[in-house]
Amino acid sequence: MATTCRFVLLRTLGAHRVASQLWNVRHMSCSDNVYLSQPTITGSSSLSFRSHTCGQLRRQHVGEKVTLCGWVQYLRQDLFVILRDFSGSTQVLIPQEESARHLKGVLCSLTAESVIKVAGIVRQRPPGQENKGMPTGDIEVLAEDVDVYNTCRKLPFELKDFVKKSESLRLRFRYLDLRSSNLQKNLRLRSQLVMKMREYLCYMHGFVDVETPTLFKRTPGGAKEFVVPSREPARFYSLPQSPQQFKQLLMVAGIDRYFQVARCYRDEGSKPDRQPEFTQLDIEMSFVEQAGITSLVEALLQYSWPADKGGITIPFPTMTYQEAMRDYGVDKPDTRFGMKLMDITDLFLSADISFFKSAVSQPGSSILAMCVPSGAEVFTAKDLEGLKQVSKTHFHQEVSVVLVRADGTLKSPLKKLLADSITDALLKKTRAQPGDLLLIAAGPTDIVRPLLGSLRLRCADLLESHGSSVRDPSSFHFLWVVDFPLFLPKEDDPEQLESAHHPFTAPVPEDTALLYTHPQQVRGQHYDLVLNGCEIGGGSIRIHNASMQLHVLKNILKEDPTLLAHLLEALDSGAPPHGGIALGLDRLVSILVGAFSIRDVIAFPKSFRGRDLMSCAPHLVSEEELKSYHISVNWPADSRGGQDDQCGDLEGRF
Ligand code: AMO
Repeated sequence: MATTCRFVLLRTLGAHRVASQLWNVRHMSCSDNVYLSQPTITGSSSLSFRSHTCGQLRRQHVGEKVTLCGWVQYLRQDLFVILRDFSGSTQVLIPQEESARHLKGVLCSLTAESVIKVAGIVRQRPPGQENKGMPTGDIEVLAEDVDVYNTCRKLPFELKDFVKKSESLRLRFRYLDLRSSNLQKNLRLRSQLVMKMREYLCYMHGFVDVETPTLFKRTPGGAKEFVVPSREPARFYSLPQSPQQFKQLLMVAGIDRYFQVARCYRDEGSKPDRQPEFTQLDIEMSFVEQAGITSLVEALLQYSWPADKGGITIPFPTMTYQEAMRDYGVDKPDTRFGMKLMDITDLFLSADISFFKSAVSQPGSSILAMCVPSGAEVFTAKDLEGLKQVSKTHFHQEVSVVLVRADGTLKSPLKKLLADSITDALLKKTRAQPGDLLLIAAGPTDIVRPLLGSLRLRCADLLESHGSSVRDPSSFHFLWVVDFPLFLPKEDDPEQLESAHHPFTAPVPEDTALLYTHPQQVRGQHYDLVLNGCEIGGGSIRIHNASMQLHVLKNILKEDPTLLAHLLEALDSGAPPHGGIALGLDRLVSILVGAFSIRDVIAFPKSFRGRDLMSCAPHLVSEEELKSYHISVNWPADSRGGQDDQCGDLEGRF
């Protein structure tokens, strides 16, 4: 129940207040700084019982009677309440007169994070007591009336940006964590970005926002899907990993230009850039070629890019898959820094070193080098050991380390095997300078490239951990990667092919004949959008011909085509040429705001193990309820019946 008091105060405060003002400057929460960048949105107080937001009041409001609502950030010396909402904070002056005793009592007894409404008069702060670090720092509100809506209990952690808390605690109390200025800022930026994207697609290019089902069926290809039981025995829905089939069906249906801010589900665990449920800006167009889609995405991003992040230049550079693998060892290169891979096979073969000779005796092998600027100067022995360990454990490969001393001579077990002329040629080719480090790997090209590609990123991390600046977090390097192979050998069965993107991607027109003779040589009309080394989008021109689609599914991928009968029938019913793309919104926003993980731009993300630690999902369903789904559970011996320490037991939580 709200407590209401009404008092009028006509008094200025004395010396006590000056000391308190100094405290104010030192103890201001980080939130206040971040809120500086938040625009005051017109209409933020419409329809509400406040007159202004807590970040809105300025000198021009002095003398006005205002009503603010918000959370008590903190109290100061029984003189001030700092009231906060999404837009910032305002200093509320507590009346000190005897006549205002009750009001003062209520305000002074408030706990942090209690929710109140305060009515009062805006006053200019006394000269010298303004707070330049606070957007509302020129004024304060002299309280005349307060309603206490909710008194906050003692919280599990302090809601101050500088107070460290574990991620599991933050996820358990996500609604509190979301009060932090960072997360507030991230969600608001995300909302503004999506708004601009919708605006661009609908108003500038005639796209139609269409919602597609979440309860779907299991279909071949792509990531592992979540299944949802139904009441019919042995029949399950599947949550779509993307609206791929629906968007193609919408093209067959004549929608022409579709988009959706679409929720996607993939049962593939959670990583900093991966969540089991995530959001795509999903796009499909009819009568379009690759260049049409890439131009649309470039202009869309340019239009929706936040003004304070600097402009982006279009068109984005393009690199083929082959070039990306050759130069960077990955299909999503971070082009903010160099350290490219170099092929030194010919050079080292002339050195006649038996180890290298045997490593490249098989066709499809190479000797590659990568130069790490200043690596010899800054890397410790432990760093180097770590790099070698990664090569062994993840790639089953040796990597040779060569340090270039300050005098230009080499320090490496290889040194005695290399003639001076080879050393000179190596330094020339790799452009290694004194103080640099060379990493050299020899073996199958499709192993040593990803190996050095992975070490390249680890070296960048190491250099940064030693204080060098390698990747500028405030610069945005977009890159299209194109000309992917349509199929790749399956990891667990290299004789069998799988789609590099998904089974619906069309071959490059010149390669179409190869689809029936040498499918492994076919390039796909598939394009990935990479930003700062992260794949933020992927798409393709689709197969719009049923017999070609059937051939791919049945003869190349060895999938059961009956599972996709609906799509094959649709492709045989007047399907226009079409293509599209999906942008990973979570990844895009996380890079925009410089977040470590996409969890920081998702309101209610899942934990590392794919759980919602707040509500304890997934949760147990009783055997009785499971009966209606014709399901019974076989508990593994060590499972303790599904009870574990973090989730499973909700009793006693409230
Ligand atoms: P793709 O599988 O490449 O293509 O996905 C498109 C983009 O979605 C993002 N993404 C993810 N983000 C967070 N967590 C995940 N688990 C996750 N998986 C993917 C990435 C990726 O680039 N239907 C096709 C698109 C098309 O062909 O039009 C598709 O989903 O940023």
